[in-house]
Amino acid sequence: MNEIRVTLPQPSVSYPIKIQKGLLEHVGKEVSEMTTSRRVAVITDKNVDLHYGDQVKRKLTDEGFVVSMIVLEPGEQTKTFSVMSTVYSQLIEAGLTRSDVIVALGGGVVGDIAGFAAASYLRGVSFVQIPTSLLAQVDSSVGGKVGVDLPEGKNLVGAFYHPDKVLIDPLVLDTLTDHYFADGMAEVIKYGCIQDSSFFMKLAELKTRQAVMTEIESIVSRCCEIKRKLVQQDEKDKGMRMLLNFGHTLGHAIEAFYHYESITHGHAVAIGMATLTEISERQGLTEAGTTKELRRVLKTHQLPAELADLTDYDAILPYVKNDKKQLKNKLHVVLLEKMGNAVIHQTDGDFFESLTLGGQKP
Ligand code: GLY
Repeated sequence: MNEIRVTLPQPSVSYPIKIQKGLLEHVGKEVSEMTTSRRVAVITDKNVDLHYGDQVKRKLTDEGFVVSMIVLEPGEQTKTFSVMSTVYSQLIEAGLTRSDVIVALGGGVVGDIAGFAAASYLRGVSFVQIPTSLLAQVDSSVGGKVGVDLPEGKNLVGAFYHPDKVLIDPLVLDTLTDHYFADGMAEVIKYGCIQDSSFFMKLAELKTRQAVMTEIESIVSRCCEIKRKLVQQDEKDKGMRMLLNFGHTLGHAIEAFYHYESITHGHAVAIGMATLTEISERQGLTEAGTTKELRRVLKTHQLPAELADLTDYDAILPYVKNDKKQLKNKLHVVLLEKMGNAVIHQTDGDFFESLTLGGQKP
């Protein structure tokens, strides 16, 4: 088993991320170790429940837990206050007290909503993240960002509230479609781009999903290790943690433009990383040849490097300029000086101006 410990001084928080194939079999013992309570609520979605709900419930019941399953509709549309309020009601109905535990079993949406429930229900209860998508295993389950969306935008209400444990079983990735496996690979590739060129080179060598799965424990561990380091340096996302947003300014704009429907997060981030690197390379801010390398690795992992219809860039630019992290026309973009070395570059919305070339490739 690989174990990584996240340690934050203020307020004192320290929790393990455990990564092991087959770890789901030990979930009962893992939760049992962290509490004397014997009541737990598992928050999941219908798809994940179908695959892993019974197994998790059985393992917890075997350890003497009374388990309540709260099963949500899958998808981003679940991350709302109206769903939150039904979750609170179900937690009350289940008799969950402050000393009990919430388990988040699912991808990023489940982790965010269950984490926010844990942060706010009875002013805070313990919780365990069991991420089941690659994206959640390498990113959203670690670092304590939890919350819900508003009609005005994604993740506009939330908290930094850390789990007591993150339990990662890479075998659960077997039930992901190729599309969602690739979606998570975009975030995996991002870690290589921002902090570790040899990790990036390794990803270039692993040509298929099967090849990635043979090394999956060390791949997920490397991503979590990089994230741990950045979160420890800058928990509240005001400095170095922003490096994790490489490709995301444009990626979020693309997701919003397509109404969070036709392009999923990882695919939008892949396009964002490649397009931004092309712009910064052309401006002499990135080492020559970096975009080509990045595009090649994205392609290897079934990810796009540009929009299917380049003329859409014209309409996407206003969404970039509306980015919530843009203040007084100052925009912080994360760009690569070279592969494995990201920096925060202060610029303005005009940085992306070359996107509006009437569909010419930027
Ligand atoms: N997903 C980026 C972060 O946790 O900061």
